[in-house]
Amino acid sequence: MGNEKNSTTSKMPDTDTDAYIQRMAVSNPLIEPTVYSAIQALQLPSGSQGLDAGCGIGLQALLLAEAVGATGHVAGLDISPEFLLHAEEIVKKSGLSEHISFQEGDVSKLPFDNGTFDWAWSSSCVGYSASLEPLPAVKELARVVKPGGSVAIFAWSSEKLLPGYPLLEARLNATSSGIAPFVKGKRPELHFLRALGWFRDAGLEEPTARTFAGGAYAPLSDDLRNALIALFEMRWPSVESELTQEDWSEYQRLCLPQSPEFILNHPDYYAFFTCSMFCGKVAK
Ligand SMILES: C[S@@+](CC[C@H](N)C(=O)[O-])C[C@H]1O[C@@H](n2cnc3c(N)ncnc32)[C@H](O)[C@@H]1O
Repeated sequence: MGNEKNSTTSKMPDTDTDAYIQRMAVSNPLIEPTVYSAIQALQLPSGSQGLDAGCGIGLQALLLAEAVGATGHVAGLDISPEFLLHAEEIVKKSGLSEHISFQEGDVSKLPFDNGTFDWAWSSSCVGYSASLEPLPAVKELARVVKPGGSVAIFAWSSEKLLPGYPLLEARLNATSSGIAPFVKGKRPELHFLRALGWFRDAGLEEPTARTFAGGAYAPLSDDLRNALIALFEMRWPSVESELTQEDWSEYQRLCLPQSPEFILNHPDYYAFFTCSMFCGKVAK
């Protein structure tokens, strides 16, 4: 969903990592229903064993574990030990520790044998993180899934967050943080929305693409308001140098919580966003 600097956490100073972890947790109430819909659409078999690659703080591992039921298991893998510490705490509190395990590792070189899992899921990591070549990463997910099992990658794909201000929103989305993790000049084939090609090239069968929408409208609960504030911070950090003075002033007027005209205070506020999921089956 956001800032490239934040999508590869292993080299970040602790303060950036902590801030990012905080934003992931705070933005979860907004995004979770959409993730839930995507996971339901996968129809993961009850009792199955799966991988959550680039699991972050484990919020989606919880949903995946619920989807596979009491006899299933989810292995969460992430390159960041800080994220995994948080993930372990969150899962312990949820009472699902028996059904979820975590392991440090790199999705480009998964520490699992061929065909270990019934399925693999990766959200905002494989195919999305700019530090990972998408095709080798999709192949690696396919390698650790059993023949007939599924591989799914999921990520933020669009949004309308500033109702009534389409021009400002378009300009914010045209900044480098607005298009992150894509970067100007990158080959179009490497954009997340070109994932069908990676699935085809990785030899995955029956590739599918689906988009799920989420949203929020006034009056906003505190949770959704805080989630949207975190989202604004993730979508458009440090945009000043890429905006005209006029757009920067309008951004400050509408997008900063301390502004009396902060857009989330508007009684008619409505926002929506989409996340897209690509899925394929490992050849039998
Ligand atoms: C944007 S976060 C997404 C976290 C979680 N999947 C979610 O959607 O909420 C990206 C995650 O991928 C992890 N990551 C990035 N590169 C990785 C790699 N090469 N191997 C494993 N994890 C990686 C980061 O540490 C981070 O936790």
